[in-house]
Amino acid sequence: MQAVVYARYGAPEVLQLVDIPKPQPKANEVLIRVHATSVTIGDVRMRSFTVPRGQWLFARLYLGVLKPRRPILGMELAGEIEAIGSAVTRFQVGDAVFASTFEANFGGYVEYKCMKEDGLLAIKPANLTFAEAAVAVGGGISALRCLQRGALQPGQKILIYGASGAIGTNAVQLARNHFGAAVTGVCSTANLELVKSLGAVEVIDYTREDFTQRGAVYDVVFDAVAKFPPARAKHALKPGGVYLNAHRDTDARSGLTMQQALRLLKELLEAGKLKPVIDRSYPLAQIVEAHRYVETGHKRGNVAITLTPAP
Ligand SMILES: NC(=O)c1ccc[n+]([C@@H]2O[C@H](COP(=O)([O-])OP(=O)(O)OC[C@H]3O[C@@H](n4cnc5c(N)ncnc54)[C@H](OP(=O)(O)O)[C@@H]3O)[C@@H](O)[C@H]2O)c1
Repeated sequence: MQAVVYARYGAPEVLQLVDIPKPQPKANEVLIRVHATSVTIGDVRMRSFTVPRGQWLFARLYLGVLKPRRPILGMELAGEIEAIGSAVTRFQVGDAVFASTFEANFGGYVEYKCMKEDGLLAIKPANLTFAEAAVAVGGGISALRCLQRGALQPGQKILIYGASGAIGTNAVQLARNHFGAAVTGVCSTANLELVKSLGAVEVIDYTREDFTQRGAVYDVVFDAVAKFPPARAKHALKPGGVYLNAHRDTDARSGLTMQQALRLLKELLEAGKLKPVIDRSYPLAQIVEAHRYVETGHKRGNVAITLTPAP
């Protein structure tokens, strides 16, 4: 089968399309024929080994000291189950599924992927394409966990900084449609209309205005791209307000496990409360171009990678 591997850290060109053996599912695993995956900023950082200075050693030990320990990137995917192991009861051959590979050694850039049936996978929402379902997972779970951690309440005012990214586009929709909050989205000029269309009642162009100058008016400030100085962002909070950051608050402290978040995400996608935003789609063979684009740091929502047959 075809797969994109990287044998060393570096520029997008380290990604190579190669043939590797097709995996066989173990007793408790399903074999997924992957129809779509994605390029996230996380894939780009792992490929290039771009990590904050203080985390270099930890990241190197986690990702691989001399070379990448997990040579196939791709944190989320959607596809169809082609075979199941002898002990599998939750899924059947032919089921369309979407999944996070976060606890499965990554590895979405492949034609076939084995995953444990009790892993981070679920039946794909029928109202989404495979590409939409694939890109929904990471940003959706992260946004959901952050907002849950902030205990966002109906009627509260939330400011979402970086509202046009993968987490941001999910956060705007979830804050409004699931938590019932009034959203102010902060993004650049080119993305104002997009963020408004996702449900923000107000948008602020960060290239023209510093949102903290509007005073302490928000119950929650969520920096969804972790690019605004936290101490300054807190000036926009009402007394007792909550500050959230995509680098700090996407973990289980929200009270939602990854499994619970995936199940809730599926319900919200099926109910139409959340619609994944796809900026560009590339075929697997153009993974280098896709990485170059995501590396700019300015994608809108998500970048999908499609495999044949086209979803
Ligand atoms: N996606 C995930 O599953 C996930 C999970 C956990 C943590 N994280 C972390 O959370 C952060 C955000 O992830 P992401 O996937 O949402 O990123 P992303 O999609 O790559 O973010 C791209 C967006 O960021 C905006 N942006 C760039 N510079 C900005 C600035 N100075 N001020 C405001 N907006 C700016 C860009 O809009 P403009 O073009 O308008 O500038 C663009 O739309 C990353 O550090 C990531 O590592 C991500």
